[in-house]
Amino acid sequence: MSKEGLFIVFEGIDGSGKTTICKMLENTLKSRGINVFFTSEPTSGEYGKIIREKLRSGMEPLEAVLLFALDRYYHVKTIGELLETGHVVLCDRYYYSSLAYQGALLGEDMIKYIEEVHRPFIIEPDVVFLLDVRPEVGLSRVRSVRESGIEIYEEVRLQESIRKIYLRMAEEKGFIVINAEKPIKEVFSEVLSYVDVILK
Ligand code: TYD
Repeated sequence: MSKEGLFIVFEGIDGSGKTTICKMLENTLKSRGINVFFTSEPTSGEYGKIIREKLRSGMEPLEAVLLFALDRYYHVKTIGELLETGHVVLCDRYYYSSLAYQGALLGEDMIKYIEEVHRPFIIEPDVVFLLDVRPEVGLSRVRSVRESGIEIYEEVRLQESIRKIYLRMAEEKGFIVINAEKPIKEVFSEVLSYVDVILK
């Protein structure tokens, strides 16, 4: 597949600020006349809707691997089309979320299998930003935004395991790690300076 666009992925634990940074980047690139498309996982598609319901009611970790992969399978088709038509695609979470979250829940020796499930259909991103925060910081942000309900995964120990997997992947796969505990404006300008280099 010829890839004309640019595929940028944002990852991080809950409350790391990915969505805010993506939106800021989307606005900035749009204002420069760049064809940019913001998208996120779980998607708003058929399987994404099922996932969102199950995130509230609960799902088994292996079920989550398969559902997220299925949602992603269709998402990747859309992303592929956008890249072929020259878009800059900003993606809030991608298969690394499955490696980190479901890997943390299922046990780290399962990570390679989760990766295998994705291998036949995945498009590798041009760059992955890991917005890194300590779980206490991330969770305190999430709590101040979401008043109601207990979301699964909102537990410091689990978030710590997820973060550990993310940081290891960052080394192995060459993610750009950003200290996302800083004020949002600083985090954004750091991200933008990397994106500017890539866009040149
Ligand atoms: P998201 O909508 O990104 O929530 P938030 O804005 O709080 O980051 O994702 C919902 C939850 O789904 C989040 O806790 C992370 C989890 N998730 C997985 O466990 N595996 C995955 O592959 C993805 C994409 C998300």
